[in-house]
Amino acid sequence: MDTYALLKNKIQNKKANIGIIGLGYVGLPLAIAFSKKGYLVYGVDTNSKHIERLNKGERYIVDIDPQEALSLIRKKRFVPTIDASVLGICDCIIICVPTPLRRVKMPDVSYVLAAAKTIKKYLQNQLIILESTSYPATTREVVLPVLRGTGQRLEKDFFLCFSSERVNPADKKFPLTKIPKVVGGFSEKSTELACILYSRIINKVFPVSSPEVAETAKLLENTFRLVNIALANEFALVCNKLGISVWEVIEAAKTKPFGFMPFYPGPGLGGHCIPIDPLYLSWKAKKLGFKTKMIDLASYINHFMPKYVIERLEKLLGSRDVRLKGAKILILGVAYKKDVKDLRESPAIEIIETLQSKGANVSFHDPFLPYLKIDGIDLKRIEFSKKNLKTFDCVIVVTDHSNIDYNFIKNNARLIFDTRNVYKRGGENIIRL
Ligand SMILES: NC(=O)c1ccc[n+]([C@@H]2O[C@H](COP(=O)([O-])OP(=O)(O)OC[C@H]3O[C@@H](n4cnc5c(N)ncnc54)[C@H](O)[C@@H]3O)[C@@H](O)[C@H]2O)c1
Repeated sequence: MDTYALLKNKIQNKKANIGIIGLGYVGLPLAIAFSKKGYLVYGVDTNSKHIERLNKGERYIVDIDPQEALSLIRKKRFVPTIDASVLGICDCIIICVPTPLRRVKMPDVSYVLAAAKTIKKYLQNQLIILESTSYPATTREVVLPVLRGTGQRLEKDFFLCFSSERVNPADKKFPLTKIPKVVGGFSEKSTELACILYSRIINKVFPVSSPEVAETAKLLENTFRLVNIALANEFALVCNKLGISVWEVIEAAKTKPFGFMPFYPGPGLGGHCIPIDPLYLSWKAKKLGFKTKMIDLASYINHFMPKYVIERLEKLLGSRDVRLKGAKILILGVAYKKDVKDLRESPAIEIIETLQSKGANVSFHDPFLPYLKIDGIDLKRIEFSKKNLKTFDCVIVVTDHSNIDYNFIKNNARLIFDTRNVYKRGGENIIRL
């Protein structure tokens, strides 16, 4: 049997060992999904704390049940480890490492490169899949040359694909297994092997003609959101000038049964995907002599939102004869989005930094984060009470976590600036974005 037939047979019969590199928001749920389907999964992570926490049955990301993970570990169906040599006994290896931006807004594919170099040491008759979001041609230009460096032949001795992860952490409606997977390999054989593998855990798999198509499709998805959120933010600014509620405008527009999809304004964009992925595309486009004006403009508008929140707050306080300098402000929610504890790129950070630099006295509450120690900020979460809520000049809702008693806050706070529309009906002490 040749490598292709052997791999196909092993994947189909659940005899393939699966190696996942990077056990974060993307890699860990994937590892558990394959393990639950009966595959033996090796999870390799350079962060030994993640491995220790998994082995203790502790949670470090939202979308997994740590006890379920522990039970798979005990049954020896899931092996989390820092020892990358286990990749030598894996048939399929999936790369789920971070792809952040460097300070100068350039893609940082160093983690992908490091993962490829690790695989290179153990490459033999395997299917390799890159899931990390990156610029078009990363699989071809970053991963492939490293693997070829072994002297092994693509499509004969190893197979290579790109298939982006599309998970939305904390989204109960669309868990990983219900989100169709786009797969683009270097040939039909690579694509087919990856499609068979993913179809074991995912309802719908959509093959495309190349890794570049799959890579670019992911960037279109995230750019679509970036641009539409920017549009909603711009409408928020215009509606404020018009003296009307942007939230009501969106609710009204939403009644159109075709040709409209609601997006909502907010205090700024956060997370690892929407503010960053489109910049991977603009960087690549620039290298090809093309300027992505839409992405640049949308990023500009979204980046302005934390500043806008401060501007509105200063005016609000001013109208009550309170100066921002010395004002007591409570930030409600600091994670970048609802119901997660992820702080990456969170607009709350810029808002807190600016408030502190302007002399405000800032406190925060976030049910997911007991303290905030980042970028010069060093704050301990406060627990709010009837008594202390009254002492704040303003409470700003920055993240709309579900497990917060918003009615209690409404009934006890002097002034609330709601940037997320949690108070849909408004109120005397409530000002919405
Ligand atoms: N988080 C999301 O919602 C999401 C959604 C879709 C796609 N993505 C993309 O998926 C990729 C991974 O994102 P994430 O959110 O899971 O990141 P993450 O930071 O949560 O996890 C990445 C993990 O990789 C580990 N790691 C880094 N380098 C390693 C190496 N060389 N070998 C082994 N382990 C290594 C880290 O220790 C970490 O545990 C990124 O490209 C991201 O853009 C993320």
